[in-house]
Amino acid sequence: MAEKSEVRWLLAIETSCDETSAAVLDRGQIRSNIILSQDEIHAPYGGVVPELASRQHLKSIDYIVNESLERAGVKVQDIDLYAVTQGPGLIGSLLVGLTFAKGLAYYFKRPLIGVDHLEAHLEAAFVENPDIEFPALALLVSGGHTSLYFLEKPLTYRLLGKTRDDAAGECLDKIAKFLDLGYPGGPVIEKLARGGDSERFHFSVPKMKKPGYDFSFSGLKTAALRIIRENNLKRDHPALADFLASFEEIVVRSLLEKVSRAIIEFQPVALILGGGVARNERLRSGFTRLAEENKLPAYIPSPRLCTDNAGMVGALAWKKHRRGEPLVLDLELDAYPR
Ligand code: KG4
Ligand code: ZN
Repeated sequence: MAEKSEVRWLLAIETSCDETSAAVLDRGQIRSNIILSQDEIHAPYGGVVPELASRQHLKSIDYIVNESLERAGVKVQDIDLYAVTQGPGLIGSLLVGLTFAKGLAYYFKRPLIGVDHLEAHLEAAFVENPDIEFPALALLVSGGHTSLYFLEKPLTYRLLGKTRDDAAGECLDKIAKFLDLGYPGGPVIEKLARGGDSERFHFSVPKMKKPGYDFSFSGLKTAALRIIRENNLKRDHPALADFLASFEEIVVRSLLEKVSRAIIEFQPVALILGGGVARNERLRSGFTRLAEENKLPAYIPSPRLCTDNAGMVGALAWKKHRRGEPLVLDLELDAYPR
């Protein structure tokens, strides 16, 4: 469908939650990756307000796309291929990006590739390490998802387990909201936990009945709320840093425990970490340590590629294109919330 013989420039759009992002890739290499966060808009509510998110995407998308083209030094007419996140995410937010991408692709008669947001998070590790070996074990930890995958070969994702209730990031966000610490909770907790004693508070967490690879964070959240109430913990309480460090530690431990067991069962040759919570230093170092103990390489994207961004979406679309995804514009391409 592309009129030029060589497909070179790709424009990717990501609007699944509360980041408006556009990226331009040159033969699969990220040339610009513009991310506009809506954190300030949602902060007063302690979480993402879907209606506000989609309205804000509508306001920003045109500017962000133009900015990504300008930073990459290309004109919109030069784009050979479009990519967009189809889901999962907030339906209103997804539709803004999807409709915008479809409109551009339709007007300029170019193909459009739809991308899964979770697969894109896993692809982030490959952006800086294209030669990750297979089979690989991948832990995805974001605000909406906490899942463990077995990647037998490129572009195959076998889900081993996922959270049965809250995602890890969601759990951090909720505790931060309860303590009135700010939004998003993960980075605030990380900052305030610095220097805290992670062994001071003990969380009694009910064991899951079936020892599979599913995660659960609601028990941990309840245990955390109990400790907060019992100790009357508040923003300026002297034990706050110790509590937050202990909480972060137990979240990280619960995540790594599953990875550790899956390494034994599935014998991967590489470990991959992805998602917004992968920005967390305690998780990054714990994951690296676990990999070292098992003599495996650990691939963790740099922080900017962990949280939602169109660069990872473009990178995955490019890989799909190189592996034979047909170059078409399907105007029926739809968004999916889950
Ligand atoms: O992947 P992401 O940008 O959006 C989703 O797809 O959900 O992840 C956002 C999540 C939020 O829950 C946020 O609190 C968490 O990532 N997060 C962190 C850190 N930075 C972001 N959690 C812990 N430590 C951080 N430094
Ligand atoms: Zn995400």
